[in-house]
Amino acid sequence: PAGAPDKALAKKVTKVGVLGAGYMASQFALLFLRRLQVPVVITDVDQERVDKGVAYIVDEIGKLQDKGRVSSDEANRLRALIHGTTDKSEFAECDWVIEAVFEELGVKQDVFAEMEKIVAPDAVLATNTSSLSVDAIGAKLAHPERLVGFHFFTPVAVMPLIEVVKAPKTDDATLSTAMVTAARLKKNAVITADTPGFVVNRVLAKLLGEAMYAVDQGTPFETVDKAIAPLGLPMAPSVLLDLVGLKVGAHVLDTHHAAFPDRFYRSENLHKLADYGKLLEKDAKGNVKGFDKGALKSI
Ligand code: 3HC
Repeated sequence: PAGAPDKALAKKVTKVGVLGAGYMASQFALLFLRRLQVPVVITDVDQERVDKGVAYIVDEIGKLQDKGRVSSDEANRLRALIHGTTDKSEFAECDWVIEAVFEELGVKQDVFAEMEKIVAPDAVLATNTSSLSVDAIGAKLAHPERLVGFHFFTPVAVMPLIEVVKAPKTDDATLSTAMVTAARLKKNAVITADTPGFVVNRVLAKLLGEAMYAVDQGTPFETVDKAIAPLGLPMAPSVLLDLVGLKVGAHVLDTHHAAFPDRFYRSENLHKLADYGKLLEKDAKGNVKGFDKGALKSI
């Protein structure tokens, strides 16, 4: 895609809607709150998930306050700006709605088609999809030109990049709004084409896919980790897989394999590990103690 469009085309973002209240969505809801200081409304399929997402955000605000990163006044203000609900009509005034719901095309198409009937005609819709086609996600929209990819990396608070994905129908005002919003979030944004995995996940899928291939061919996971660590990566494959979530990791490999079967590996063992739940054992403080024995037995 061409470079960034004129900033003057960017629309104002005065209220943010977050669809999905899982780990990724809650992390970036907090970032929108902190950096934009506007009301953020967050939803999910049931009240329990909504409450869990809001509790995470409130907890993180408390940690920021304890570290002296936000004053108590600001912490109170941020807590007052976050609102969880299962009633999507409360999104009516959002001019920016971003989703991180289940990574399945039909689910994403449906949540946006529903949202389009609720928000104003010029509200921007953004998807945090990690490897689905943004164009396909917008297939059921009356106005697909207002849809853009906005892909965060975990941990959202510290990873500096956002991939802004320009789908064939994304218009300049939407793209400009995404670039200006990323800058307000204090992230570096790059505009990528709407291809499976965009840029970063393609490289990560290669790395993690080849690591899993080595495991599947008989080298123990601990050895693969130990062998790769000296390359200077910030995290060993096992730590990164647990961080993004084994289900998400397996899904990313599957999507890449489906799009480019000759170039990406699909690991059955990664699915078995995902069913088991986690790879590593951690202490109460979250420090890695080593591989979970049950996880290694499951493959
Ligand atoms: N949440 C919030 N903050 C976190 C965090 C988390 N989960 N993990 C670390 N941090 C913060 C720490 O609090 C610390 O902040 P401070 O300096 O202000 O106190 C800062 O990050 C550095 O933490 P550490 O001292 O523990 O630093 P490390 O050197 O261990 O770095 C890391 C941590 C930045 C997470 C580093 O290990 C890293 O870059 N790992 C790779 C992560 C990665 O590749 N992410 C992409 C995953 S793929 C993805 O998300 C796409 C999806 O579509 C699959």
